[in-house]
Amino acid sequence: MQSKDANWWRQAAIYQIYPRSFKDSDGDGLGDIKGITQGVKYLKSLSLDAVWLSPFFPSALADGGYDVADYRNVDPRLGSLKDFDAMLKALHAEGIRVFVDIVPNHSSDQHEWFKAALASKPGSKERARYIFRDGRGKNGELPPNDFVSHFAPSAWTRLKNQDGTDGQWYFHLFAPEQPDFNWDNREVQLDFLKTLKFWSDRGVDGFRIDVAHALKKDFTRFNKSYDSIDSMKIAPNGRDILFDRDEVHEIYREWRKLFNTYNPPRVAVAEAYVPASRRTQYASPDELGQAFNFDLLSAQFVSKDFKQIVTTNLELARQSGSSSTWVLNNHDVVRTVTKYGLPKGTDYAQWLLDDGKTAKLNLDLGQRRARAAAMFIMALPGCTYIYQGEELGLFEVADLKHTDLQDPTWKRNVVLKPQRIFFKRNNKYVTGVAEIHLEKGRDGCRVPLPWTSTGPSFGFGSADAHLPQPIEFGTLSMQTQTKVKGSNLDIYRTALKLRKKLQTSEEFEWIKTGDPQVLHFSRKNGWRCIINFDGVDFTLPKGEILHSSSPLKGGKLPKNTTVWLKA
Ligand code: GLC
Repeated sequence: MQSKDANWWRQAAIYQIYPRSFKDSDGDGLGDIKGITQGVKYLKSLSLDAVWLSPFFPSALADGGYDVADYRNVDPRLGSLKDFDAMLKALHAEGIRVFVDIVPNHSSDQHEWFKAALASKPGSKERARYIFRDGRGKNGELPPNDFVSHFAPSAWTRLKNQDGTDGQWYFHLFAPEQPDFNWDNREVQLDFLKTLKFWSDRGVDGFRIDVAHALKKDFTRFNKSYDSIDSMKIAPNGRDILFDRDEVHEIYREWRKLFNTYNPPRVAVAEAYVPASRRTQYASPDELGQAFNFDLLSAQFVSKDFKQIVTTNLELARQSGSSSTWVLNNHDVVRTVTKYGLPKGTDYAQWLLDDGKTAKLNLDLGQRRARAAAMFIMALPGCTYIYQGEELGLFEVADLKHTDLQDPTWKRNVVLKPQRIFFKRNNKYVTGVAEIHLEKGRDGCRVPLPWTSTGPSFGFGSADAHLPQPIEFGTLSMQTQTKVKGSNLDIYRTALKLRKKLQTSEEFEWIKTGDPQVLHFSRKNGWRCIINFDGVDFTLPKGEILHSSSPLKGGKLPKNTTVWLKA
């Protein structure tokens, strides 16, 4: 059963489930809630403290579910609230807590509030829940300002009135199917409190807060020009027009009051892409309690970068009173196995656009390094996040057919280019327009999990998966790896089990190694972690060897490997 320890989350191992790609229980090609329930035994075998479910709410899937049509329900294609309760019960019975993903910055354009806004007049209370403005230009034909969307190009879309004439424009930081809420509106604030209470009352233990830094906007400056959408590069003063405004914290202080009415208090982790110095406030105990540290997502497998990231983030965690989070993968980025296994200097975005044809992935190297990095972060004080499939050593699927791609970042980052092509069959030139995509998108890390070595969709379900899996997924399946000692899965399982036993107070100390390629730290109880990035075989200090991410070499630690010792 769940303990009532209010600090259970501080050093938890949390597994991210992308529900549509986890397990499909009914053969429609989409993973679902019952599929997660079927996977509880597997999740238990990973010694997890919690799982975080990416959105499973009703959605038109314009952005993989991050376009929510109803915050207090389950997408009928994925199941029902009854199925959700059964899943929660099954996970809790194994001591695994559950986080759900809250998407407060924007809803889906299919949300009943947005539909009501469209059916209502400018200036109505229905429109006041979102951000509507008249256009500029003689007939309002120009967007209200030049703000751009994260999913490109403009952050404004013009409406058609019900009589077919052109209407107002509405604001969306992401796709047009994701209209931004107006967080100055008390009705919006109260509705989210209702949503948080709804899931907390059902027994949900925590929340991951999507785009937590963008909720409050400075509407008085919507007449200004704004050319940046990189929230990491804004001035860290809380006064940007769109991101990380000081007032956003009032929202989270109110949420915290609600969280603290539960026993144990509900927890939350912010996805806040803000300069590091500003992250701490989201993580403070009177707000969300924790904020994602994404620094490793953009790092290479490089000793000095890892060292600097760890040192900075442990200090930031100390300042905020929170614990740090360590994340190597998630549903938005190229999988580590691929990042670390491609030749140095590869431009991943371009490589993906080239369908992975321009450089060869060294799978074994990528997996070795990814496992070493994983065991390194697992030993650090704080939370370890694992993205589904990471434990299997899955790689980014780079050659998904363009017709299979679902991500709006693929669909929306397009330019049209005039082209003249010679058609042999007709023996003539034809001039047309070609679509040039500027981003491949994030589908390559969202390909469904392989459960078995054969079968349609490798045991993900009884039919083809919604994103096709490559043939190699068969040999990487859970079934295959479970039988193999030293497989990626076996190494993760052992590491996570040991981590649970070894977990101790949050103090930490770097230990000198004399080799800049080798990092060594110890925890209070003598638990030591040593990683060799790219050095010569490293002679280990005295101690009992507990586990290593790859085999040692004559008792020494080879490069691309992590070892845990007990001094
Ligand atoms: C977050 C999610 C991402 C989504 C975006 C818009 O960054 O992680 O998947 O596209 O928010 O909701």
